[in-house]
Amino acid sequence: MATRKKRPTARTATRKPAAGTDASWFEQGRFGMFIHWGLYSLAARHEWVQKRERMTCEEYHRYFERFDPDLYDPVQWARAARDAGMRYVVVTAKHHEGFCLWDSEYTDYKATNTPCARDLLAPLLEAFRAEGLRIGLYYSLLDWHHGQFPVDRHHPMSDDAEFRKANAGRDVRKYARYVRNQVTELLTKYGPIDYMWYDFSYPGADGKGRDDWESLELMKLTRRLQPGILINDRLDLLDIPGGWDVRTTEQVMVREGVTRDGKPVPWETCQTFSGSWGYHREESTWKSVRQLVYLLIDTVSKGGNLLLNVGPTARGTFDARATERLEGIAAWMRLCARSIHGCGPAPDELSAPEDCRLTYNAETNRLYVHVLNWPLGRLHIEHLAGRVAYAHLLHDAGEVRLLDGAGHLSGALGRQLADDVLTLELPVVRPEVAVPVIELMLN
Ligand code: GLC
Repeated sequence: MATRKKRPTARTATRKPAAGTDASWFEQGRFGMFIHWGLYSLAARHEWVQKRERMTCEEYHRYFERFDPDLYDPVQWARAARDAGMRYVVVTAKHHEGFCLWDSEYTDYKATNTPCARDLLAPLLEAFRAEGLRIGLYYSLLDWHHGQFPVDRHHPMSDDAEFRKANAGRDVRKYARYVRNQVTELLTKYGPIDYMWYDFSYPGADGKGRDDWESLELMKLTRRLQPGILINDRLDLLDIPGGWDVRTTEQVMVREGVTRDGKPVPWETCQTFSGSWGYHREESTWKSVRQLVYLLIDTVSKGGNLLLNVGPTARGTFDARATERLEGIAAWMRLCARSIHGCGPAPDELSAPEDCRLTYNAETNRLYVHVLNWPLGRLHIEHLAGRVAYAHLLHDAGEVRLLDGAGHLSGALGRQLADDVLTLELPVVRPEVAVPVIELMLN
């Protein structure tokens, strides 16, 4: 085997998140499952339905009274995630509506008091751990049910002057204590938690931020109860050392990786299948398997993670559209996961050929060329001539022959290629996978 001298330096290798926490599992894993599940699943028209339709807690109660996910089987969910190549899960222990999936002793607004009458969180965490996934908890800082949560611009009753007046005495200090109590429960009674996903801060007029949540204390509590835990960046502590470990963005394809003081930091983009996070029966803007695979590749090529959301139904199932997408991703990952797990951006001096994305595994010294648009016959990559020991298509390990540098015509008008251009000879027919990948074993 070729010796591995002159190995290029990968931009992600052994970098540390802001707080000095070890994020290697996160950056190796690259792909997680987000789960938004709560009372809004019954409404089946967006997780913000209570706010959008200005529902009072009394009106919204009809979902609480009927929450009975009789087909709930977290083992199936966990298998679907693992098959899709996901390495961690983030589940809404509590979303903005305030409803808790676990048996919290600090509220009655919880799964155990609905017709389903059981803690839904514990079996989920157990199932995902059994499949080898890391565990993240989403905890909403907002709470539209709690009697001490001061009404603000995001609250369902925000436009109701009378309600506001009648509730002017709400005490955010008491609410912040409630948050800490609940977080303490979650971080002490549910085994090892790898990732805490707080959502979200909106400081300023009629909003809430670090002073309301008492974010600093909450962050310290989180780290004390689960040393080594990763915390996302929505506590409004961006400027505080150790205030966050992972930068998050949502519903966009980022143009480039995220940095702090010029250095890459762990980041994650969360994405929906169809626009809503909670189950939405009538949404028709579902992304295709190919789009989703592309999103994953693009994210990893820029050094980030993809947290892909499923909104289970009120019966406790992944609906057919979600299942079809997950299975499609699984089919691709079964063959191509090597270009995702453990990978990050290509070394700086390499740039992706047209219509391609590069990822790189510094451990194995392999470079992956994801071909989004299949070219005719040849693919040229600059600065790679003489640096590749062997290449093949990842999905079938069929050899891709290499032509090095000068002497080879680019095909167009007889122009010579530069010396350091590597040419890959590709089959004419585009391989039948969502996105074909070429694996290059570097010297
Ligand atoms: C948006 C949505 C919220 C969801 C979150 C996930 O803020 O409004 O419902 O939980 O994205 O990042």
